[in-house]
Parts: sequence; C-alpha cells; structure tokens
Amino acid sequence: MEDFTLVIFGITGNLAQVKLIPALYDMTASHLLPEGIQIIGTARSPMEKQQFRDYIAGVLNKENRHHRHPIEKTIASRLISRMHYLNGHLDDPAFYEKLNVQLKKLAGQKQNLIFYLATYPELYEVIFKNIQKSELNTPAKGFTRLMIEKPIGFNRVSSHRLNQLLLKYFSEKQIFRLDHYLGKEAMQNILTFRFGNGVFEPLMHRHFIDNIQVMAAEDFGIGGRGGYYDSMGALRDVGQNHLLQMLALATMDAPAQFTNEAVTHERLKILRSLKPLPGSLVLGQYHGYTQEDKVAPNSETNTFFAFQTEIQTPRYGGVPVYIRGGKMLAQWVTEIAITFKNPSNRLFKHLDCGEEPNVLIYRIQPNEGIVLKILTKMPEHDFKLDVSYMQYCYPQNASAHAYPDPYVRLLYDAIRGDQTFFNDAGEIDAEWKFIDALAKNSPKPVIYQPGSWGPKEAGYTIQKSGRCWQEPSLQFCNF
Ligand SMILES: NC(=O)c1ccc[n+]([C@@H]2O[C@H](COP(=O)([O-])OP(=O)(O)OC[C@H]3O[C@@H](n4cnc5c(N)ncnc54)[C@H](OP(=O)(O)O)[C@@H]3O)[C@@H](O)[C@H]2O)c1
Repeated sequence: MEDFTLVIFGITGNLAQVKLIPALYDMTASHLLPEGIQIIGTARSPMEKQQFRDYIAGVLNKENRHHRHPIEKTIASRLISRMHYLNGHLDDPAFYEKLNVQLKKLAGQKQNLIFYLATYPELYEVIFKNIQKSELNTPAKGFTRLMIEKPIGFNRVSSHRLNQLLLKYFSEKQIFRLDHYLGKEAMQNILTFRFGNGVFEPLMHRHFIDNIQVMAAEDFGIGGRGGYYDSMGALRDVGQNHLLQMLALATMDAPAQFTNEAVTHERLKILRSLKPLPGSLVLGQYHGYTQEDKVAPNSETNTFFAFQTEIQTPRYGGVPVYIRGGKMLAQWVTEIAITFKNPSNRLFKHLDCGEEPNVLIYRIQPNEGIVLKILTKMPEHDFKLDVSYMQYCYPQNASAHAYPDPYVRLLYDAIRGDQTFFNDAGEIDAEWKFIDALAKNSPKPVIYQPGSWGPKEAGYTIQKSGRCWQEPSLQFCNF
C-alpha cells in the first residue's frame, strides 16, 4: 500500500468524532494504514499540538454507540503520533497556503492525497477552487482522491449542480461519494448470498415474490443535529440514499463481473426503473420534534416516511415494494424483507400458521444476518407447525473488532482506489429524480407518538392490497 496524506476538513465535527477518528483507530489496530501515513485535521479554532492530541484521545475514549470496544493506549498513541492539526477558515485562501506548506513538510513534492469533506456543503466550492489553485488535485504529483458524504444536494437540480462542480475540479475516478450503508458488512454480503449461491437467485422473480419491504427505523431522535436535520427531513436524509441503495443491492441483476463498473451499472438499472407513486407517500413527524434544539418551532419537516414503488423491469414488474423509515420509532431495525407467494396447493394450510409465507430477510442491523423464515413441525406427537428461521448470523461480540465498521471498509477501499461500494453521479441523479417525483406534492407530516411505528396512515396503502407491514422479528441471530 502506498503512503499517503489524509486531510480531514472538519476534524472537530460530529462526523469526525463519531465515525472517522474511531475508524482510523480501528485501521491502526488492524494495520490497514501504511506506515508512512500522515493525517491532517482542520477546523477554525487554534489548538496547540498537545491540546490536539488530548482532543483526539478524548474523542476515542468518549462513549460512542458506534464504537463500543475498549481503546488500547498504545494503539491510540500510534494513531495520534501520525495526526497533525491545522487551524483556519476554509474560505480563506491563506489557509491553503499554510496547508500546502504543511503537506510539503510532511510528504515532500510527490505526494498521494485523500481529502475528506467532513464539513458543510456550502464550503465545497471554495475548497475545490483552492485545492486547484494550490495544484493539489494534479495526479502528476501522486494520486488525489476526494471523499464526500451525503447529502449530495437537496434535490435533483442541486445534486446536478454539485456533481457538475465536482467534475469541474476532479475526474469521476477521483471522487468517492460515500453512502456508508454500502460499506456495511451485511449489505455487501447480499451480493455474495445472491450471486455466490445458485439456490435463491431463480426465486428473485415476480412469479415467486409477493412483495418487498425495505425499512430503516430508529428508536432515537435527532440528537444534537437539529439544524441539519430540520433542513432535510427523513425522506431526503436517508430515503434518497440508504433505503434506495438497499433496494438496489437486493434486487439488481448479476453483474457481468465483480468490478466497480459492472456492479454500479446494475445498481443504476434498478434505481432508474423505480416508479414513483406520489399518492402512496405518507410523511410523519414525531410528537415533540419541534421542541428539539435548533428546530423551528413551527417546523413541518418529516421525521418519518412510507411509500410504495415498483421496479419496472420484466423481472419484477407488478411486485409491490414498500419502503419506510424514520426516527423515534418502536424499534431500531434496518432490513430488507422479501415475502414469497404461497403456492395454491400448499399442504398444511388448515393448521395454525399454515399460511405463513416464506420470507427472506437481509437484516442489516441489529442482529445482523441473512435469514429465511420457514415453517417446521413442532417436535412433539401432535402434528403442529412452528415458524422458524434458517439463519446465517454475524458474530455479536461487541467487545472486539468482530467485523469491519463501514467507515473502516470504505476508507480502506478509497485508499486502494476501489470505487465498487461508492456511488457515481448517475446513481445520485437517478435517486433524486425518483425522490423529486415522489415528493412533488409532499403531504403535510402527520404527528405520531414516539415509540410507535409512525402515523397509522402509513398502513393505508399496504392494507388496501390485503398486506401489512412486516413486524421486524428479534427471534433470530439473537445470541
Ligand atoms: N454527523 C454525521 O453523522 C454525518 C453523517 C453523514 C453525513 N454527514 C455530513 O458530513 C458533513 C459534516 O457533518 P457534521 O455533522 O460533522 O457537521 P459539524 O458537526 O457541524 O462539523 C462541521 C465541521 O466543519 C468545520 N467548519 C465549519 N465551518 C468551517 C469554516 N468556515 N472553516 C473551517 N472549518 C469549518 C467545523 O469546525 P469548527 O466549527 O470547530 O471550526 C467542524 O469541524 C456534512 O456535510 C454532513 O451532512 C454527517
């Protein structure tokens, strides 16, 4: 692995504290960073060298629900010894002169660079301009890559503008648009499960599938991120990206090869074939949301959404797809559930549970795994049925590095230049095109009680078809 310098714009922010610094710690622990790596973190306030070191140590030792394993002092010290701080305003050209000097001091003339934008989108243009002015995006000096987080815009027009801006300063090969769901182990395993095995793939067809449900429910609120969240809402914050990407991975055709181009091409085909059904969209807002910090007291921002769509391809046409997500819901659970049709001649229909359908569940979190809901006979003299789960489960050992965190995985991919689990401009465009059409005449959010499954109106569309929302089970992969 080549040495490189990682520049994190926004090292004092929430993303850096909760995700990036812990991921760099894990990468240090697992020897996934080259020996010669240098990391420069930037923000506005001045900090002395020791203050910065204490800050990083403090971040690592802080309670973090995304990073629960203990911090070893020697590993933390190894990481901290490679980290440097540079203060300044990102809209000040003098800051980039300082950055250039620092970069040359650390890595000399020839250098590989990764810029991580952990700061506000309003600053992107000035950052790109200054990077170009300082000739820091010139591959002749080594590779230069840019990692950029969601949201890529607020709608199709603004995302197009941002993508154009990115492409003015960088080539598509240099841009790593990150949707951290694509870095989740359980998401990546969907591809192996589907295309590494021969048994299930033929069943992924409208002849056999009754409906598909995708859900990302959180049992907590917006934390301290009211300012950002209130300008986005749930549908744009997670519906446009995470949930559509989940659907794309679970339903895409087999790529010709396991390459970035081929996988992205297949995801894109699904995203482009989604039919927006604006009449099915229900938005909700949890009771008490408007009292949250930095939220407008009369805010009509949605914290919940539910809608129906259809994948308009010969393979899936006619299969209803139901999608829902939101905050302050009954359970923290993210999953894709594919319910299969019951054959008309199914035996045991007359028994209790005899008509329970088979459901294939990709559980992304918690109780990560891939599970098939089946009927089995109860082990007793009477012939009674039971609902059981055939399951592949991930290790649940929270105290160790059981499997890679998505940020570790995606940072590691970016270091290796592998864009397979990053989004290209076309995917972002297709997602926004769909969301814009779906939310064209956005309904007013309905207030729902925290701890519920959202407004009851969210059930109307699905109930009209004689179906219901899949109750997320915790009976599997539960050690
Ligand atoms: N937080 C998450 O979990 C999360 C998840 C997905 C995507 N994102 C995206 O990641 C980005 C960062 O989000 P965040 O939640 O980390 O935001 P944040 O907590 O508000 O942090 C913003 C960072 O940018 C720095 N900054 C702001 N204005 C600056 C300026 N003019 N010059 C120099 N530095 C400046 C801040 O430093 P100082 O204020 O200390 O100077 C801080 O380090 C956003 O685009 C967000 O949408 C965040």
